Amino acid sequence: NKVEIAVVGSCNMDLITYTSRLPHIGETMHGHKFVKGYGGKGANQCVAAAKLGAYTAMIGKVGEDNDGDSFIKNFNTFGVNTDHVLRTKSSATGVASISVIDGGGNAIIIAAGANLDLSLQDVNNASNIISKANVLLCQLEVHPLTTLHALKLAKLHNVKTILNPAPAPDNGLDIEFYTNSDIICPNEAEATSLTDVCVNDVESAKKAALILVEKGCEVGIITLGSQGCVYAVRSVSKAVHIKPDTVKTIDTTGAGDAFAGALAFFVVRFPNISLHEKISRACYIASKSVCYEGTQKSYPYAADVPINLFGFDNMFDN
Ligand code: RIB
Ligand code: NA
Repeated sequence: NKVEIAVVGSCNMDLITYTSRLPHIGETMHGHKFVKGYGGKGANQCVAAAKLGAYTAMIGKVGEDNDGDSFIKNFNTFGVNTDHVLRTKSSATGVASISVIDGGGNAIIIAAGANLDLSLQDVNNASNIISKANVLLCQLEVHPLTTLHALKLAKLHNVKTILNPAPAPDNGLDIEFYTNSDIICPNEAEATSLTDVCVNDVESAKKAALILVEKGCEVGIITLGSQGCVYAVRSVSKAVHIKPDTVKTIDTTGAGDAFAGALAFFVVRFPNISLHEKISRACYIASKSVCYEGTQKSYPYAADVPINLFGFDNMFDN
């Protein structure tokens, strides 16, 4: 099958500890439980789109270790094209140490390992897939120059680009990331470091979304957890808030990835529904993911969500 969504990004083994709170420096404490899972923002977004039914390909790098082996097997269970999930001897498969506190909030430390070995040449070697895809989806867990190279390659071939700028660098992003991305979708914290607006509510998010589009992308979306998201379109200097229904939050880890992967899916499969409708549907998918533990395994399959999410009529736009 033709690849609809190409993801150039990260693969991390997630080591998730559920705990009542984070420990203080110097403290040892008991958590509730521990689980291992397949994660990494790139892999998560790829799987989120695949579970909804998109034909996806992952372009990334893992170690020549057991984690790398099982990572590729995991992709294959979702039908993800892994021709360009490369192996390296020089680094271990990426690892994310994740703490999820009661109420669902999380803190994550990544040891990127093999992810940082993904090179510009590796991206070039996947140009056959990237240039023919409908959407390229990127994050910032591989080397920023690799990400930028992929975005430029896609734009050269008129492929739509979506950048989830996570994690956001402290000193902002080069303007070329904006001009080579059609859609940029940070969360509150990332939007704060990208725009210098302290994003902590809908109003500040609207301000920041407008700044994102001024920097050169077509659409700026800021995800706001239980508040949904805010988006702005460059040609219209107005920001819009989308608020999903309230759900019982169990684990917010990877909700932003569910959003980005689902957004890519709706962009590819439903080019003719409005932008508002596409974003609202992606928000809905993300809100489902927080009701379950983990990242990829918490993302809904197409069969798990209402059928009209895959219709051409508006569900949210009126
Ligand atoms: O966005 C969630 C992801 O961030 C986790 O899966 C972890 O691997 C980190 O990359
Ligand atoms: Na989840």
